[in-house]
Amino acid sequence: MYEWIKAFHVVAVISWMAGMLYLPRLMVYHAEAQTGSIQSETFKVMERRLLKGIINPAMIVTWVLGLYLAWSVFGFKGGWLHAKILLVLILSAIHGMLVRHVKAFAADKNQKTPRYFRILNEVPAVLMLGIVILVIVKPF
Ligand code: HEM
Repeated sequence: MYEWIKAFHVVAVISWMAGMLYLPRLMVYHAEAQTGSIQSETFKVMERRLLKGIINPAMIVTWVLGLYLAWSVFGFKGGWLHAKILLVLILSAIHGMLVRHVKAFAADKNQKTPRYFRILNEVPAVLMLGIVILVIVKPF
């Protein structure tokens, strides 16, 4: 059973990360588009569907299955696991920021620049690198 849960954990992780890497990239282009333009309205639909259809459910499944794995075999013990959970908490905070940005764009109230979203786009990639090294190499 453990291996099956782990397989679905990784599938959820891939879906969550795909969205976390793509959504800020969409926002780079959205921040460049004229408010009220056809492009801007199209980006609103793309952002909402990506968030509600993929990113939110994938994050929930990742957390539920990840916590089960952490509890069932590791009893929540291990430095690598604690560090991994810390990085995933930061990733979840970025997720929360993206939710707020989607709402701001939907209300035509975005104040952030394309450069801001370019920088924000790099953060999930760096966190993913750390998380995957921690869970596979388990360096401590
Ligand atoms: C939400 C909190 C999370 C918890 C508590 C958690 C916990 C775990 C645990 C305990 C394992 C099993 C490790 C093993 O069997 O050696 C695992 C596997 C894995 N996790 Fe997570 N995880 C979480 C989120 C994530 C995220 C966000 C990512 C990637 C960005 C990720 C990537 C992976 C990968 C790639 C594996 C497979 C590793 C292997 O087979 O050796 N996890 N996770």
